[in-house]
Amino acid sequence: MTRSSAPGKVYLFGEHAVVYDEPAVLCAIERRAQVEVEQRSDGKLRVHAEDLSLDGFTVEYGAAADDRPDVDVSESLVTAATQYVDSAIEQVRDVTGDEVGFDVTIESDIPLGAGLGSSAAVAVAAIDAGTRALGTTLESDELADRAYRTEYEVQEGQASRADTFCSATGGAVRVEGDDCRPTESPDVPIVIGFDGGAGDTGELVSGVRSLREEYDFAADTVEAIGDVVRNGEEALVDDDLEEVGDLMNFNHGLLSALGVSSRSLDTMVWAARDAGALGAKLTGAGGGGCIVALDPTPEAETALSFTPGCQEAFRAELAETGVKRLE
Ligand code: PMV
Repeated sequence: MTRSSAPGKVYLFGEHAVVYDEPAVLCAIERRAQVEVEQRSDGKLRVHAEDLSLDGFTVEYGAAADDRPDVDVSESLVTAATQYVDSAIEQVRDVTGDEVGFDVTIESDIPLGAGLGSSAAVAVAAIDAGTRALGTTLESDELADRAYRTEYEVQEGQASRADTFCSATGGAVRVEGDDCRPTESPDVPIVIGFDGGAGDTGELVSGVRSLREEYDFAADTVEAIGDVVRNGEEALVDDDLEEVGDLMNFNHGLLSALGVSSRSLDTMVWAARDAGALGAKLTGAGGGGCIVALDPTPEAETALSFTPGCQEAFRAELAETGVKRLE
């Protein structure tokens, strides 16, 4: 039996635009998905996840592709989570060349589909635990690349390398196209608000793609997000948190213009700002899920916890370490 964990993340700047090779800055956070694998002798894959849905679920099916349930990613989040595991185990099989089977158990304290990188963390931890179970320990770059291929496949080609690289390496990262690298870990006081909901990443990314094809303003907005990110990077280097916050606000406005915010995300963003946060924006694909606010005081977290529509508010510590090998 082997067990690995990998962290979730927030986008300080640049989601969606990163799909079009604009830069993005992300921070891994100390909310983790933990995946335990045990090899099976019959080549089957059995996935058990206590924490990914309210009731937990177990799915069992054969190794052959036509044995698998034919389901749509958007059909349910639980199904989506299973597809990420299935695809991650395909990567494990690709490393070893064997049609091996596994019992896979997932525990996660990252809400699903909420912009905190749950699928990337599950993919990274599953590939790491699976390959180690077969005697191979992947280097961080290969692990990130294989986890990216997992997301790419499940999201039908609509994925950047950002989430999976951040989850595999930990710390703060900068991503621009295929160029992913660790960046100076900014000492940013991160508060997260979660509305209890989720967005469909594939659908939201497609929506931005269509808008960008139809309207010049949308293409310009994507480029403008790139400008905000470059300015944000300078502000982070200068440790100018006020400017970082202002730029996060601009970034949220531009994401709203692209149609990926929601009423509850906007409500949480304004609750954090009204409480004195230096800045606040949605994180990840949007549509519902989480916002990230910058606040060195306890005010934004307290205000969010009393905001109707905010299910959970918490401070997030930077996860310095990406994948952790537990057993
Ligand atoms: O919501 P998440 O954690 O899946 O993040 C999606 C980020 C996007 O930029 C919208 C898509 C991507 O793959 O980068």
